[in-house]
Amino acid sequence: MLFSLHTVHILRRVPSPRVLVFGAGGHGRVVAEVVQACGHTVDGFIDDGVPAGTQVLGLPVLGGASFLDSQPSRVVALGIGHNGTRQRIARRLQAQGHQLPAFIHPSSVISPTALLGAGVVAMPRVVVNAEARVHDGAILNTACVVEHDCVIGEFAHLSPQCGLGGGAQVGARTHIGIGATLLHLARVGDDCVVGGGSVVLKHVAAGLTVVGVPARPLTK
Ligand SMILES: CC(C)(COP(=O)(O)OP(=O)(O)OC[C@H]1O[C@@H](n2cnc3c(N)ncnc32)[C@H](O)[C@@H]1OP(=O)(O)O)[C@@H](O)C(=O)NCCC(=O)NCCS
Repeated sequence: MLFSLHTVHILRRVPSPRVLVFGAGGHGRVVAEVVQACGHTVDGFIDDGVPAGTQVLGLPVLGGASFLDSQPSRVVALGIGHNGTRQRIARRLQAQGHQLPAFIHPSSVISPTALLGAGVVAMPRVVVNAEARVHDGAILNTACVVEHDCVIGEFAHLSPQCGLGGGAQVGARTHIGIGATLLHLARVGDDCVVGGGSVVLKHVAAGLTVVGVPARPLTK
């Protein structure tokens, strides 16, 4: 389900929700700071690969995924960079009754007519323009631009400073690399990778990795 910015604002007004960040790696630490910039309290991190009790950004790692099995409904921010893993974890958390609101850094500009899914995180200085749709669990990384009418598939990742022209579409779990560009109305299918700095002119079929200007399939 997608929510308007109005709904995101309502979530922001929940009085100081205490948030857990799932993932204590580099991406998780950036997400934690976005959550704090939204005015929320981060209680700690969840991470299967880091021993409980470890301090990360001065906050405790509380345990692995099983820590949340025994918790009542918690507010969780998705701090996993890998798209498929983030999707699997998000769906498990939702099935357990945990809440995955969108977290939007206050420096970002999101159109009031854009729609955002559960678990979307927008880093600093993101712009999302009129009637764009960003589905569940997508990462809008630092300073990316999502123009009017774009559709971003669930658990996609738009890397820092990439730019999507009007009406461009990005498939589920697709990674758009740092500084890449999709021209207006360009379409990239599910489970693709667009290399950093590449320019997609028209259409990329599902599952492909493309690089260059213009972007062409990577053959090894
Ligand atoms: C596209 C990408 C996934 C390919 O990675 P890879 O499979 O390890 O590929 P390699 O590094 O072995 O490179 C293979 C070939 O593609 C070329 N290539 C790789 N990435 C390229 C890019 N972004 N643009 C143009 N050419 C690229 C390499 O020069 C190499 O060419 P060669 O065979 O002629 O020497 C990776 O280079 C990339 O761009 N990832 C995006 C990372 C990113 O944006 N991270 C941000 C996280 S916040």
